[in-house]
Amino acid sequence: MSTSEDTPDLTDPIEENRALQETESRVAIHGHPLHAMLVAFPVALTMCVLGADLLYWWTGDPFWPVAAAWACFGALLMGVIAGITGTIELLIVPGIRNRSASWTHFVLAVMLLSILGANWLLRVGQPEEAVLPLGLLLSVLAAAMTGLTGWHGGKLVFDYQIGTKSDGSSRPRG
Ligand code: HEM
Repeated sequence: MSTSEDTPDLTDPIEENRALQETESRVAIHGHPLHAMLVAFPVALTMCVLGADLLYWWTGDPFWPVAAAWACFGALLMGVIAGITGTIELLIVPGIRNRSASWTHFVLAVMLLSILGANWLLRVGQPEEAVLPLGLLLSVLAAAMTGLTGWHGGKLVFDYQIGTKSDGSSRPRG
């Protein structure tokens, strides 16, 4: 049977290393992270794709598939640009890079961008034919992934204070 004397003291590398408590954004304008400013576009445009698909399903008006295809292109483009700013942040700020939550967010975001890419490619040259059923299904999936990725991004900022000027003293442990 092991006792506390046998067990080596467990240390948390993030607790040990003061530099890892600094998670302030470096891709920012006067301390305002560019990523947070840019993510509004893919979030809103992804929801527009779903809205336009549903309106096409309901009305049959050929305007909506064209609107959906352009919204999907915009969501992908702005999502990639937002993703680039987030990835630079992830790679250059040690306090962000060393937290697993940041990498979870990265994986969720790349999955979202892949779904947006598939949804857009499906629509190129055939916006109307692409909607039912596969386009609509991809739009539902993209909207759900946007909710998850956006919620998790908020968790990084509000729970872990990633991207903020916090020195870590008020950051929750664990
Ligand atoms: C592809 C790679 C991505 C990486 C590496 C990444 C990384 C980050 C990081 C480090 C933060 C913390 C704040 C900051 O430092 O700016 C953050 C916040 C956030 N991210 Fe991402 N992100 C990515 C893509 C996305 C995408 C595509 C979305 C769109 C749904 C998104 C939504 C958010 C949101 C909503 C926040 C919270 C912003 C705030 O409230 O201040 N991220 N992300």
